Amino acid sequence: MPPEFIHKPVMVAEVLDALKPKSNGRYADGTVGGAGHAAAILAASSPNGRLSGCDRDGAAVEAAKLRLAEFAGRFEIRRGNFADLAEWVPAGSCDGVLLDLGVSSPQLDAAERGFSFQQDGPLDMRMDTRQPLTAAELVNTAAAEELAKIFWEFGGERDARRFARAIAHDREQRRFETTRQLAELIERLSPRRGRKTHPATKVFQALRLAVNDEIGSLNRGLAGALKILRSGGRLVVITFHSLEDRVVKEFGRARGRDYTFTGGVDVPELRQPCAPELTWAHRKAVTPGAAELADNPRSRSAQLRFFEKT
Ligand SMILES: C[S@@+](CC[C@H](N)C(=O)[O-])C[C@H]1O[C@@H](n2cnc3c(N)ncnc32)[C@H](O)[C@@H]1O
Repeated sequence: MPPEFIHKPVMVAEVLDALKPKSNGRYADGTVGGAGHAAAILAASSPNGRLSGCDRDGAAVEAAKLRLAEFAGRFEIRRGNFADLAEWVPAGSCDGVLLDLGVSSPQLDAAERGFSFQQDGPLDMRMDTRQPLTAAELVNTAAAEELAKIFWEFGGERDARRFARAIAHDREQRRFETTRQLAELIERLSPRRGRKTHPATKVFQALRLAVNDEIGSLNRGLAGALKILRSGGRLVVITFHSLEDRVVKEFGRARGRDYTFTGGVDVPELRQPCAPELTWAHRKAVTPGAAELADNPRSRSAQLRFFEKT
């Protein structure tokens, strides 16, 4: 693997424990990244297990192919959104699907990708650099109300409106082009005063989720994952913040029910019986152990959930 692409995969043992890879098994990894999990799945499913993987990030795809060279002939990696997995992985074919959400360390650490307020770089944040919408485009052109909505809904930022108004005001004088420009504005409006987290954390998270349509992709990706699983196959999802985890839990609840309902309100009169599509393998999320937390601080917010297709 090129030295610049180093990502420590989280909870590898827990992922393997949930997927229980077997020889002849077929697996899909929707967030292949540096292929740490993919390599572990291929090794554990030797000699015949197969893996279909994708990532939106071209650099990740290249790194993954190199990392997996020893498993040549047993994997296919494509550049693309996991929301589209069901378009190329056959329905009912997989024994296990993994989604390890969020960004990789190389994306966070490369200033030029514009994900981090800790370093100065272009305000970009695209996982797939072929996509036209960048964070700068959003910050410079979206209406203040839309920005406030993004900061609130995707970041839970209480000062969403104030920050959005200030951005709309400042961009009249000068376009926002860099991560530092935006981080400094937020710091000016909301001084740090000894807080542990940087005041721009939530704004940056919200912009990243909006630029990459991460919640929309997750909803489509979960539905697609269920399609490509065979009956008894397992879906493993690792999330890094509560908004994503809420989407996963809601998906598990909705697809695990033995009834559907219309109109968005679950009242007994509107229920229609149906067969549940999945069962929860575990009610409680699995989290990293003490040794992993000490070794990899970025794993601290990871939560793993897994379901079995009925
Ligand atoms: C936490 S990293 C995954 C690391 C990987 N499991 C490993 O072992 O190295 C998340 C990766 O998912 C990718 N990603 C995020 N959302 C995606 C989506 N909707 N479709 C495809 N890839 C996505 C990111 O580009 C990033 O490379």
